[in-house]
Amino acid sequence: MRTDFTWNQDEHSTGHPLLDCKNKRMIELINQLHILGREDIDNDVVLTILGELVEFADDHLLEETLLSAHNTSGLDHHKHSHTLYLEELCHICDIYEKEGTSVFERIIVFLENWWMNHILKEDVTHKQFLRPALA
Ligand SMILES: [Fe+2]
Repeated sequence: MRTDFTWNQDEHSTGHPLLDCKNKRMIELINQLHILGREDIDNDVVLTILGELVEFADDHLLEETLLSAHNTSGLDHHKHSHTLYLEELCHICDIYEKEGTSVFERIIVFLENWWMNHILKEDVTHKQFLRPALA
């Protein structure tokens, strides 16, 4: 069984305090889903978590704006990944509302993949562009 994710400032920081704050929260939510999966799954709690994760998409706009300002290469691909995140998450929410816990594992796999393959492999590599300028 996978152990819970834990935040590591050196390895996980995007360089931007707000984005890091949201990413720490994402770790908490993924860990919370793991705990729910080991108990009787409470649909209301899962839907609340999914709703919060959908709201995370708003922060993608901040990231895109900062990356655009630096004319970062691969920006179109990055934006497309953000679009796919929101589409897949909304799709999963719809299925969860119709079918309940049958897609529970899919939610966790999707979020873990997002964490490991987008945040840790893409966002973090743009740290120098996401870090707020010092006054
Ligand atoms: Fe991103």
